[in-house]
Order: sequence, then C-alpha cells, then structure tokens
Amino acid sequence: LMAEKGGYKHFMLKEIHEQPRAITDTLAGRLREEEGDVYLEDLKLSDADLSGLEKIFIIACGTSWHAGLVGKFMIEKHCRIPVEVDIASEFRYRDPIIGPNTLTVLISQSGETADTLAALREAKGKGGRAVAVCNVVESSIPRECDGVIYTHAGPEIGVASTKAFTTQLVALFLFALRLGRARGTLTAEQVREFATALATLPRKVEETLELNEQIEAIARDFMNARDFLYLGRGNQYPAALEGALKLKEISYIHAEGYPAGEMKHGPIALIDELMPVVVIATENDTFEKVVSNMEEVQARAGRVIAVTDAEGLCDKADALLVIPRIVDDLMPVLTSVPLQLLAYHIAVLKGTDVDQPRNLAKSVTVE
Ligand code: AGP
Repeated sequence: LMAEKGGYKHFMLKEIHEQPRAITDTLAGRLREEEGDVYLEDLKLSDADLSGLEKIFIIACGTSWHAGLVGKFMIEKHCRIPVEVDIASEFRYRDPIIGPNTLTVLISQSGETADTLAALREAKGKGGRAVAVCNVVESSIPRECDGVIYTHAGPEIGVASTKAFTTQLVALFLFALRLGRARGTLTAEQVREFATALATLPRKVEETLELNEQIEAIARDFMNARDFLYLGRGNQYPAALEGALKLKEISYIHAEGYPAGEMKHGPIALIDELMPVVVIATENDTFEKVVSNMEEVQARAGRVIAVTDAEGLCDKADALLVIPRIVDDLMPVLTSVPLQLLAYHIAVLKGTDVDQPRNLAKSVTVE
C-alpha cells in the first residue's frame, strides 16, 4: 500500500504533492503562444457560439463549487459576461432562467455527482448549452454535455479533493482565455502573457510545497483549537471557503470561511484567543483592507495565521506563510496549497482517517 501511495503516508499527501505535475498535464497541448490563444480540444463550441453567449451559469457541489466561485472572477473580468455560480442541489429545484444563449458549466471531479447531473439535465431541458469541467473521462456528466474540458489531474483517491481543485482552477482560466479571444475582450498579446504566466505555475506550486515543514509546526501549535475562521476577499474568498472545508472534512474541527469584509458584520464577535483566524492576504486592490482585518483580529487577542505573497507582514500575524506571486487570477491556486497542508497536518496529529474521513463518500451519487 505504501508503494501505491508513492512513499507518502496518505493518498491526500501524495495528491497534494502531485499538483505541479497535474497542472502541467492540464496545460499540455493547450497553450498556443504563437497565436495568442488557447486550444480546448473537446470544448465543441465555435467562436460564433461563444460570442453569442449572454449568460453563464457555473454549477457544482462542494470543492468544485468553490472552483466555480473563482471561475466567476476570471470570466467576468476577462470576458465581460455575467456569470452566476450556484450549488447544484439549489439550482435544480429553482426553475432557473435559461435560454438558447445561456451556457451552463458543470464542474465535477468525478463526473458522477447526482445533483450536478440533475442540474445539467435541467439546463439542457430548457434549451441551453452545457459544458463540463471534469476529471474522469467518459463519466456521466461529460457524456451528456455538448463539450468538455478535462482536467488531467489523474485519479484522485483521497476523499478530500486537492489536485482536482487546483486543476479545475487552471481549466477555468483556460476557458476564460478562450472565451475572451472568441468574444474579442482579450487580445492575442494578453493571452500570450497569461500563457507565459501559466507556464510558470507548476514551478511556483512546487516552491509553495516547500512550506510543508513550517506548516506542520503551525499545525502543532493550533491543532487543539475547536473552531477556525478563514477569511479571504475577492477571488480569495472561495479559497477561504475551500480551506475551511478541507479542515472540517478531515480534522472534524469546525471551520467557517467568510468574506473578509463581512467580518465586522458578525463573526468578529466570535474572536478571542481560542479561535485562530486564517487570513489570505494577497497583494491586490483589497490587500490593505485585508491587512486591517488582521489588525482587528489581533486587537481582540485573536491569533492570525496569514497566507500571503507580500513582505512585511511579520508583526501582523502569529504564523506567516509566504508564497510566491503570479498573476492575480491564479493566486488562488497558490494560496490553496498551504491550506491543504494545514488541514492535512492537523488531521494527522489528531489521528483521524485522512483518506477516508467519517460519513463522507468520494462521490455523492445519491441526492
Ligand atoms: C471535497 O473535498 C469533497 N469531498 C466534496 O465536496 C466534493 O468536492 C463534492 O462532492 C463534489 O464532487 P465532484 O467534483 O466529484 O462532483
């Protein structure tokens, strides 16, 4: 079994470390740098189809839904088309407004999630088009879609999704670039620059993985907390949700992800020395505001674990994880990695069944 796990103690740890390779495989053959475009072999939507779109729904469950929330930022920013993200079990029962110029993007690692499949049938039944972002070739969801963007993460065995998530983010970014070219909101030159950035992503994930030992030490310091708050803003809010979900799933510690700007509207009342606050502070337009949130937490004796690409935050955090920098659209890939490792090490220290956490199934094929 150790061999199956490639020398790692758990599939989850192996899969976390496979991310540079999984991302490389998801990019392979898709970046057309000379043309300044992206090639998605199974998307099956022409430039005319893509430029005629008026609305996009992104539908998924769990971690895949978090990826969708990040995808909204990418697509709205670069393609200037409204994107609504919804949870499959909500979408399927609310009679969504879908027309011929609506595209529904279903995100599913397994391609077999019952609610996501039902949401796809709902969208198609109303005359819209549908594409999947999926990790399992020929699974149910891509089979019923018009097109698919496969993530090439390889089989994911750990119940807690890791490499599937980061490759979904990459696939969604590739889709945003393709859509932006088709709609004329991105130039070939811009796509060429993004392609150059994408090509550096596996190396930067590799560098981020070097934080492993530091994260293990932080896990030791914080493992006895009963509750965690995760804060992020903009495209890092979904990364905060994902970090909190990882911790809940495998360590059974209650954790809540929150948009940092909402802290003062409620959750700040929870903060004391017993509740660690994980803050994602990437250097973008809202960086200073997130730094003030860190100060607010510290002023209430809360302990801050910060994930940042910025320098000079030493006195603002009790534990600081400094990650490399890449274009802002891809920063959630890099911030997610230390949060996966933090959840992993806390779970190992608590002695839970990391790969097969209680009550959870790898793919939820019943409603
Ligand atoms: C993630 O860690 C979960 N175990 C879970 O939320 C999962 O992402 C969700 O069930 C969706 O699965 P899918 O991507 O296979 O559709």
